Amino acid sequence: MKHVTLIPGDGIGPEITEAVKAVFEAAQVPVVWDVHNAGLASLEAGNELIPASLIDSLNKNRVALKAPITTPVGKGFKSINVQLRQKFDLYQNIRPAKSTEGIKTRYGNVDLVLFRENTEGLYSGLEMYDERLGISDSVARITHVGCQKICDAAFEYAHKHNRKKVTIIHKANILKTAGKILLDAAAKSAARFPHIKLEDKIIDNMCMQLVDRPEQFDVLVTTNLFGDILSDLCSGLVGGLGVVAGANIGRDMAIFEAVHGSAPDIAGKGIANPTAILRSALMLLHHIDEHGQAFRIEAALEKTLLNKEQCTGDLGGKASTMEFAQHVIDNLAAY
Ligand code: NAI
Ligand code: MG
Repeated sequence: MKHVTLIPGDGIGPEITEAVKAVFEAAQVPVVWDVHNAGLASLEAGNELIPASLIDSLNKNRVALKAPITTPVGKGFKSINVQLRQKFDLYQNIRPAKSTEGIKTRYGNVDLVLFRENTEGLYSGLEMYDERLGISDSVARITHVGCQKICDAAFEYAHKHNRKKVTIIHKANILKTAGKILLDAAAKSAARFPHIKLEDKIIDNMCMQLVDRPEQFDVLVTTNLFGDILSDLCSGLVGGLGVVAGANIGRDMAIFEAVHGSAPDIAGKGIANPTAILRSALMLLHHIDEHGQAFRIEAALEKTLLNKEQCTGDLGGKASTMEFAQHVIDNLAAY
């Protein structure tokens, strides 16, 4: 049995993690959940924002499934997500966005994998505020080491998964030095993989190209803020935030989580789509070499998604979160 840290999170977090737990239990996945919370849920239970017990659990297990955590806007605490990514140097945020048979979108053939640098850029936490003058300075720290690591990771992934092209997304026309560091790092990574095409696009043009003709892209690499925004955009190309998974990967730790947030507008109603977190959990299973279980549950999930009636409201269906999970469980029998 593999021990995996589970962070149930805020908003829809507990609802969608219940769905994953139910599917894993029915499939008899050899995983034991080590449940620890963080953020608002942890504060409300009288604990720290990031309790020491959670850090201990992560250090011990080295792998986690994390539901979304609410981050207050303006004053309040620093994002738990950003803190965890920086503390454990989870420098790769991998977010695949692929068209799914049965999910109707404007595009038929999208198959993108976004690599978002996950620890620096505008999310470095270097923010200075002069209340008297009404000035806020936010430093977008870009390092050579950070860019090289994310570019290497993207090219190594492209090579391993037989991908043909890597697109670097930047704003080097305005942010000259930051852009140069990223583009130089990409050229260095690309030199090791001459069979993979390297191209670069300026972020604003890239947004237009993605909504116009997303089929032309393959693996994408970008800095933290652009990656955050682009990954929500990419999810919109393939069925929305309810279906897109993600992984935060470091050298010796990995935390898997959906792209979406805690969705306060639908929290507590039992109607959230658990597909995104379930797909993140399947990425986790591949990470711990449980490939057979991952493929089996994926097949049951894909079969469920083919039947709109069995899907949640965001996909045009009528099922609740747990009804959807039950359909996935019922479909497991065929695989
Ligand atoms: P959001 O991603 O939570 O929601 C955006 C829209 O998508 C909402 O209409 C929501 O109902 C819908 N949606 C999201 N996930 C869905 C699902 N699984 N099924 C069906 N519909 C879904 O973004 P929002 O509202 O901007 O952020 C809410 C909170 O989440 C904020 O406090 C934010 O800081 C936090 N957040 C946390 C993240 C994390 O923990 N990794 C990531 C993104 C946001
Ligand atoms: Mg985001």
